[in-house]
Amino acid sequence: MRGSTLASFASVAGIAVGASPLVSQCGQSASIPNWDLQSSTSAPSDVASISKPAFDASSWHHADVSRCTLMGCLLAAGVYDQDEIWFSENLNDVNWGQFTVPWLYRNAFSLTPEVGSHYILETNGISSKADLFLNGKQFATKEFQAGAYGGHTYDVTDLAAEDNALVVQVYPTDVNYDFGVGFVDWNPSSPCNATGVWRNITIKQTGPVSLGRLSVLAEIETPVEGRSATVTLQATAQNLENQKVTVEFEGSIAEEGATGSAAPSKKSSITLAAGESRVVSMQFELAQPKIWWPKQWGDQPMYEATLSASASSALSDAVQAPFGVRNATYAVHSPAGIYEDGMFTVNGYPFLVLGGGYASDMFLRWDSDRFTAMAAYILDMGLNTIRLEGKMDQPELYEIADRAGLMIMPGWECCDKWEAWKYNDELSISPVPVWDENDYHTANSSILHEAAVLQPHPSILGYLIGSDYWPDPRAANLYLGALDGVNWGAGIVASAGKLGFPKATGPGGMKMAGPYDWVPPNYWYYNDTHHFGQAWGFGSELGAGVGTPELGSLKKFLNQSDMDDLWTNPGKMLFHMSTNVSSFFNRKRYDLGLYGRYGAPTSLDDYLLKAQIMDYEATRSQFEAFSAHWSAARRPSTGAIYWMLNNAWPSLHWNQFDYYLHPGGSYFGTKVGSRMEHVSYDYVEKKVWLINHSTQTAGARTIQVDLIGLDGKSLSSQTIHAQTKANAATSLAHIEGMDSIKDVAFLRLVLTDSAGTVLSRNVYWLTNTVDVLDWGKSTWYYTPCETFVNYTALSTLETAKMSVSTEQVYTTAGAQKAYSVTLKNDAEVPAFFIRLNLVDSSGDDVVPVMWTDNYVTLWPKETLTLQVTDWEGSGASVDVSGWNIAASTASL
Ligand SMILES: *[C@@H]1O[C@H](CO)[C@@H](O)[C@H](O)[C@H]1NC(C)=O
Ligand SMILES: *[C@@H]1O[C@H](CO)[C@@H](O)[C@H](O)[C@H]1NC(C)=O
Ligand SMILES: *[C@@H]1O[C@H](CO)[C@@H](O)[C@H](O)[C@H]1NC(C)=O
Ligand SMILES: *[C@@H]1O[C@H](CO)[C@@H](O)[C@H](O)[C@H]1NC(C)=O
Ligand SMILES: *[C@@H]1O[C@H](CO)[C@@H](O)[C@H](O)[C@H]1NC(C)=O
Ligand SMILES: *[C@@H]1O[C@H](CO)[C@@H](O)[C@H](O)[C@H]1NC(C)=O
Ligand SMILES: *[C@@H]1O[C@H](CO)[C@@H](O)[C@H](O)[C@H]1NC(C)=O
Ligand SMILES: *[C@@H]1O[C@H](CO)[C@@H](O)[C@H](O)[C@H]1NC(C)=O
Ligand SMILES: *[C@@H]1O[C@H](CO)[C@@H](O)[C@H](O)[C@H]1NC(C)=O
Repeated sequence: MRGSTLASFASVAGIAVGASPLVSQCGQSASIPNWDLQSSTSAPSDVASISKPAFDASSWHHADVSRCTLMGCLLAAGVYDQDEIWFSENLNDVNWGQFTVPWLYRNAFSLTPEVGSHYILETNGISSKADLFLNGKQFATKEFQAGAYGGHTYDVTDLAAEDNALVVQVYPTDVNYDFGVGFVDWNPSSPCNATGVWRNITIKQTGPVSLGRLSVLAEIETPVEGRSATVTLQATAQNLENQKVTVEFEGSIAEEGATGSAAPSKKSSITLAAGESRVVSMQFELAQPKIWWPKQWGDQPMYEATLSASASSALSDAVQAPFGVRNATYAVHSPAGIYEDGMFTVNGYPFLVLGGGYASDMFLRWDSDRFTAMAAYILDMGLNTIRLEGKMDQPELYEIADRAGLMIMPGWECCDKWEAWKYNDELSISPVPVWDENDYHTANSSILHEAAVLQPHPSILGYLIGSDYWPDPRAANLYLGALDGVNWGAGIVASAGKLGFPKATGPGGMKMAGPYDWVPPNYWYYNDTHHFGQAWGFGSELGAGVGTPELGSLKKFLNQSDMDDLWTNPGKMLFHMSTNVSSFFNRKRYDLGLYGRYGAPTSLDDYLLKAQIMDYEATRSQFEAFSAHWSAARRPSTGAIYWMLNNAWPSLHWNQFDYYLHPGGSYFGTKVGSRMEHVSYDYVEKKVWLINHSTQTAGARTIQVDLIGLDGKSLSSQTIHAQTKANAATSLAHIEGMDSIKDVAFLRLVLTDSAGTVLSRNVYWLTNTVDVLDWGKSTWYYTPCETFVNYTALSTLETAKMSVSTEQVYTTAGAQKAYSVTLKNDAEVPAFFIRLNLVDSSGDDVVPVMWTDNYVTLWPKETLTLQVTDWEGSGASVDVSGWNIAASTASL
């Protein structure tokens, strides 16, 4: 009772009476934990006075999160509800006008200032710009504290007191005029255009000397096996006093999870003049370093580096950074000077990038558990990389990626202020002013901050200093200067496309030639006669645009008429596709393919099943083709970033799993197409490829190839013996019997090792022809088809009878459970595209969920056992449905 009286008194007075200090020791730092929030129109105009500890903010919105955009804060404060504003077209009904004025973030906190203690306040980017006030005084202006990535440190020692109040006045964002975070045509923008304190603001206590972020460069030559590594720690030390001070530094390196240090610690000493800053560095030798690998190639051992500064034998400041020992490079190859394709290497091995384009949440909300599940999905699909196009999100993302072995390609955003140079044609449509002097300063502080945050992480493959467009010479130089200044140690890419490049970097080596919308599976297998997205070189953003959510997800964000439109109205602008200024606001081109190849849908269920089939074919063929052409003598494929991995909100396309983390056709197409060791069908050459993404040595393999008709009768059967090659693709035999296909046939490829273990099982549905592309009518976003293959005979497939049995495989001390699900096709005909869905006791989708395989096609009389991992342990049964079976439910 007493406690609560005290708490309410404190909140009325706006002072954190009795609250423990935010920080109380040198070297300690903490984030401002939560915010009171108000529009400037509902607050006194004297903002400085609001930052006096006595100001009463109890009537303001309260967001119990350390970082949030304005909409993110209002969602956290309960003013809005995500499911409601994302339903149908409700987002339009949010009051967008309220965000056209500045807003105020306020927090009251306590400190324990003593003689000799200093306080450093650090911002990590505020959109679009901000004035900052502490205890009645302004200490930063919006001209300096500008940009979503503009991180700065401020010495606020003179303003700090026992009771403090911080006020951040944020200004509206228009991504054409401000350095914000925008979504181009991916999705509608947030009503607040992602304005606000979207990353933590921290306060650090130090003695007379403070340290900037720690850079850790681990250098190791290749081959890395058996080599030593040199580790360089580097940070900027600043004397905060107005008299000289002698500083003792101590650096150390420890292996995470091990006791003791990995190398003897080191000491050094310098004297800094009053106010002086100096870069200090220290080198360590690791004789037998544990090497960090991408997940597909090995383990992720991590080390931790620490650098401390002491004055007069008292600790003044300390900085730490986890790091890993790996070697990552990017180089652009132009054999005979004719073409320029870039390729990454990791630890000396050529690294075929298979990945997706990452989207932050629409409101830039961060959830570590959610990203951890996403990282597990990405790796489960056999992908190894994600690209962050101006969505550098939160530091936690990199920590999770480091520990998961997931590679990251961060870089700047396209199509807005970030690329406002005069040669940018995209921006001439709506004239955007080119960068002025202050903009170069904002760009400089942005790269200085991002480079420092990203540098130690072994998951970083390379930074894209340009997106669609390349940076002008001044921007390129400041970007390169900042990366060099932090001992970058990974790749640097000029831009994501081939429009141009700065002299300082040379060509970017990536292509951005589409497609972004539906193309048939054979598209990927053509060579570079037509300069589009086919599987050669490095495609920085490309795909058939697929990613249709299943019904369980659709119901969460579409009303009945929206769902009717989905299957009855192919030309209609759909709010949950891209925005209405985009080329991708309807499903016209996709539906042309779906109707043309599988026949007009007869219901929403029929449409969704056909869509999953289309999506599966699209992603499987893309990843298979990029894998198959990896070893091509001429113009090998070197990377494919599927456009996109995920969406910022519930979207109807462009994803490998939907917003609710339900994995559908595009997920399992990717997963089959990216298998570590795999056997795939080449739609153009009608042959088999043997693919291995591992670095291990060769072995004997057998491939069983079977072709059957819709009646289940054999059209051909081949057994191929081959030797696999590590990190390579080999072309094998042509498929026999293709000419005898009357309407539609099924092709099954089964890869086994010498012990008879099945390494890959892969089923296709084929006609005796392929979709015919009309290359002459290609645009930047797709190539249309002249004629489609005719799969409509699939509707004549006899009904198959499927037996389903389930068994619990394990249950963990946590909630996690795993079940095996055994499917037995009792019929004489194939059972096509069998879909399994884990549901809870209310029949709702269980997410996240992991299936070893899904959307499978069974041969007559074939038995197949799949496994499902239920992370939360809420699964009650498995819904089983498919093309030619009666839907059923198997309880667990
Ligand atoms: C941000 O602040 C929150 C709350 O204090 C904390 O849990 C989180 O670790 C911080 N993250 C970073 C990157 O500072
Ligand atoms: C669904 O939402 C749309 C757009 O908000 C609206 O026009 C339509 O009337 C709604 N339909 C139903 C059945 O609620
Ligand atoms: C958001 O940005 C758009 C242009 O991208 C602009 O028209 C709109 O006014 C901005 N909204 C706010 C609240 O600033
Ligand atoms: C990576 O390996 C190459 C080839 O051995 C070497 O030249 C380069 O210095 C290495 N890079 C780092 C950062 O260790
Ligand atoms: C970028 O900022 C750094 C650090 O403040 C400064 O040394 C450098 O001169 C700046 N570069 C440009 C091009 O403004
Ligand atoms: C590319 O493929 C076409 C057939 O589609 C063929 O005529 C041409 O020779 C091929 N070009 C190269 C360089 O292989
Ligand atoms: C596009 O959407 C905006 C915002 O919802 C609306 O104001 C505009 O009228 C729409 N334009 C078209 C062509 O539908
Ligand atoms: C291919 O990859 C597998 C991992 O699935 C590995 O065990 C095997 O040794 C590799 N084989 C070859 C020939 O590289
Ligand atoms: C597609 O095939 C079906 C059955 O095999 C046939 O009835 C139909 O005419 C074909 N459609 C076209 C456009 O050729």
